[in-house]
Amino acid sequence: MGNPEFWLGPMEGVMTPELLEAATSLHLVKRWMTPFFRVNADAPKPKTLKAFLAPFGGELPVTVQLMGVSPEAMAMTAQTLSQLGVNAFNLNFGCPSRQVTSGGAGGGALRNIDGMLRTVETVKNAIGDLELSVKIRTGWSDPGEQELFLPRLVASGCVGKFFIHYRTVKEQYAGVDGREERLKRAIELAENVPVILNGDVNTPDDSESLLKRLPQAAGIMCARGWLHDPFLLRRLEHLPAPDPETGREQFFRTVVKAGFPVNKSIELSNYIWGRKNNPYFRHLLTLPAGAAFRLSP
Ligand SMILES: Cc1cc2nc3c(=O)[nH]c(=O)nc-3n(C[C@H](O)[C@H](O)[C@H](O)COP(=O)(O)O)c2cc1C
Repeated sequence: MGNPEFWLGPMEGVMTPELLEAATSLHLVKRWMTPFFRVNADAPKPKTLKAFLAPFGGELPVTVQLMGVSPEAMAMTAQTLSQLGVNAFNLNFGCPSRQVTSGGAGGGALRNIDGMLRTVETVKNAIGDLELSVKIRTGWSDPGEQELFLPRLVASGCVGKFFIHYRTVKEQYAGVDGREERLKRAIELAENVPVILNGDVNTPDDSESLLKRLPQAAGIMCARGWLHDPFLLRRLEHLPAPDPETGREQFFRTVVKAGFPVNKSIELSNYIWGRKNNPYFRHLLTLPAGAAFRLSP
């Protein structure tokens, strides 16, 4: 593959407007994939979709991720978004939340491969030449399941790119062995469709050695590791970056500078430093939950 692409993994609840603005102003990302937009039986109004898109700012390319169970409503949503200027879509077939999967959405789609194919085909039909990618895990309960669904997704001709999180849905976020073998097999099964690798890539060394061992991969997606080292994607691209601790501090200050809710500040700082090493944790706990936390940048 040519130059690898480096992506920030979407993170629902964490990617607040303030975080998006800070990441943009510090040039920490080159493109966005939105967290999932949940599509219910009734397709949303354009006003709702506009509000969802607004924090992404329009400066960087945006791939909008959709999650739902109604192929028709998802297709209509994608069509409305395309009228608002969106030209790349992603379908979430990986979310492990029980609330989501019990209704068949997110990772729950892996228990109904026919339904998943119908969603992919219906959405692709609605968006024509615009790009459709899929973010998926290697199975519902066994990574061997990718042998079944990846060839069908490839054969549909509807998928322009795969983002593959190496775990199964049931594994949630547990530490499991076999990342490289699973991703290697996913790349083989994806044939000519590019595969972006996802899951626990937290350092430049790990990214480089994974790409060296899996040279057919099209790139890397990092989520939690980026929060812990917000300049991580810049490091992976060999762009100038401060040392990780300076970067954490700069990023956190930039996010909260104009005022950020205390509860969100606790959550974000715990992601950035880890609860044990969080320099703001004790202080934040003394503040009223409803207050806004501010730091000069
Ligand atoms: C708080 C949080 C929210 C997430 N929200 C989404 C989401 O909206 N859509 C999605 O496809 N993945 C979501 N993910 C999964 C990540 O994008 C990524 O696939 C996963 O964390 C594995 O990558 P990592 O080991 O680099 O974190 C979320 C993960 C976290 C931790």
